[in-house]
Amino acid sequence: MSSNTFSLASKVKLPSGHTIPQLQLGLYMMSGREVLSSIPQALSAGYRGFDSAQMYHNECEAGQAIRDWLSSPSSNTTGLKREDVFYTSKLASCSTNYQVVRRSIKSSLEACGLGYIDLFLLHSPYGGREARLASWRAVEDAIEEGEVRSGGVSNFGSRHIDELMGSNPRIKPSVNQIEVHPFNTQEGIRETCKKHGIVVEAYGPLARAMRMNDPTILALAKKYECTPAQLMVRWSLQHGLIPLPKSVKKARLIDNVKVAHFEISAEDVAKMDGLDEHLVTDWDPTDAP
Ligand SMILES: NC(=O)c1ccc[n+]([C@@H]2O[C@H](COP(=O)([O-])OP(=O)(O)OC[C@H]3O[C@@H](n4cnc5c(N)ncnc54)[C@H](OP(=O)(O)O)[C@@H]3O)[C@@H](O)[C@H]2O)c1
Repeated sequence: MSSNTFSLASKVKLPSGHTIPQLQLGLYMMSGREVLSSIPQALSAGYRGFDSAQMYHNECEAGQAIRDWLSSPSSNTTGLKREDVFYTSKLASCSTNYQVVRRSIKSSLEACGLGYIDLFLLHSPYGGREARLASWRAVEDAIEEGEVRSGGVSNFGSRHIDELMGSNPRIKPSVNQIEVHPFNTQEGIRETCKKHGIVVEAYGPLARAMRMNDPTILALAKKYECTPAQLMVRWSLQHGLIPLPKSVKKARLIDNVKVAHFEISAEDVAKMDGLDEHLVTDWDPTDAP
């Protein structure tokens, strides 16, 4: 846990065998225009992972921005290739109709134009057991047919994870993407994921900027000579999570992930864990029936 080596180049291995960048840019609440300017800035700053979704309505622009940057010699000065960039999308709604989901994955692939999607997630457990399991079968088939490299879920509570693992899936989910930050630590779901070897991606890792002035955060940021955003990102990494901080501001997207110059002590990590108030910054489908 206490390595001091985190950078935009850090990667972790997924159960699928593929590697995933441990720090990625979230694309939620970015317009197509914002995505077209933020992705090139992020790639040039060293980001190698981007988190989109059907619900974000920016899959086309995300794919276009990645392709344009890769094919521009003046931007891509080190000759990176498609396989050096990690792209995620998510299914808007689970459905009991396998064919509908299968087609939906194909349209996400077409929209981004990247040849394959690195990680495809079921965005939420809404829809019920049958819909979740039928949708997961469609993800498995998309993996077997080469459209998707790794599959996963998002906003799955412990019960949904146990249900999927108990259904004897051909391919197990590599990832559960859930809201995690010091004000919502999600220890129960993280423990369940650990039990099944599922990697946790932390969305809302900055608590959507709602707790930047929290006294404990401010005091620790002062102590470690970092910003509150850097402190929260570093907390996430030291817990072995994959944080997806979002910013459309160039200075912030560069600054937020500069976390190599300090290491939070175990005692201070515990102090930050103690800030948990189950703060939900967006939605919380983890209790869905
Ligand atoms: N699976 C899901 O259901 C789900 C749900 C929510 C999010 N996500 C994913 O997780 C990503 C991150 O979550 P999020 O976007 O909700 O929240 P977040 O990353 O915790 O916070 C983003 C907010 O913080 C602001 N911000 C960024 N850096 C800042 C700084 N240094 N100082 C002050 N404010 C700062 C951003 O504004 P500016 O852009 O103006 O800088 C934005 O309003 C999303 O983009 C998405 O990819 C997934």
